[in-house]
Amino acid sequence: MLKMVTITVDGATIRVPEGTSVLDAALEAGICIPNLCHMPGVTPIGACRVCIVEVVKDGRAKMTASCTLDAKEGMVVRAHSDAVLRARRNIVELLLAEAPNSRAIQDLAARVGVTKSRYPMRNNDCVLCGRCVRVCDEVWQSKSLGFVGRGINRRVALPFNTRPESCKHCNSCIDVCPMTITPCPGPMKVPDVCGLCASQTSMADKFPDTCVWCELGRGFQCARWQVKGLLAKA
Ligand code: SF4
Ligand code: SF4
Ligand code: FES
Repeated sequence: MLKMVTITVDGATIRVPEGTSVLDAALEAGICIPNLCHMPGVTPIGACRVCIVEVVKDGRAKMTASCTLDAKEGMVVRAHSDAVLRARRNIVELLLAEAPNSRAIQDLAARVGVTKSRYPMRNNDCVLCGRCVRVCDEVWQSKSLGFVGRGINRRVALPFNTRPESCKHCNSCIDVCPMTITPCPGPMKVPDVCGLCASQTSMADKFPDTCVWCELGRGFQCARWQVKGLLAKA
């Protein structure tokens, strides 16, 4: 029988089936915990750390990624404490330095209130979120993509840099990649975030904790948008 557990996120009581991640529980309840590498239906890997939260136990708070954290009975989670917001902004600054020209990263920065990065710009075309690798492996059972290398040399690659026969030509790896979202036509002042996206910045100001079905979520297929899409097709 399905066992339900009750957790609190930012003071809101949420009841979910045991085994649900804290991130999914919060998103389902309409609490926006920003996320990047998370995708419904594939194994969470906790790669980007954008979804960090504090779990409070015995008066002590521990910071951890919420997409890889299972909801447990009585768990108390803070997703928008000052410490979490500070740490999340720092993580997004690092992502912005990695990929300042990515629309998804720019939007993510705007959503969490980051307007520029203090880190050296690298201008990569991949932030190692692993969405492509997992969709290829777990949805298409193709295993045509994988991570190679370590540290700063880590990257996503095809075996021997050649498209293998196992590739289904589904293009899902491209569709789910946050780097391939069509750039916005507005002025972009890299390394600063242009900040002209009313849909992002005004909502981030007005509703810092809440899922407001933002274009950022639609753009990189946040869990809530994916569920909405599935329901629409059902
Ligand atoms: S196009 Fe090929 S490499 Fe990309 S997800 Fe599909 S099967 Fe994998
Ligand atoms: S290629 Fe895109 S989807 Fe794949 S790991 Fe890099 S940023 Fe993520
Ligand atoms: S969404 Fe949780 S670590 Fe990336």
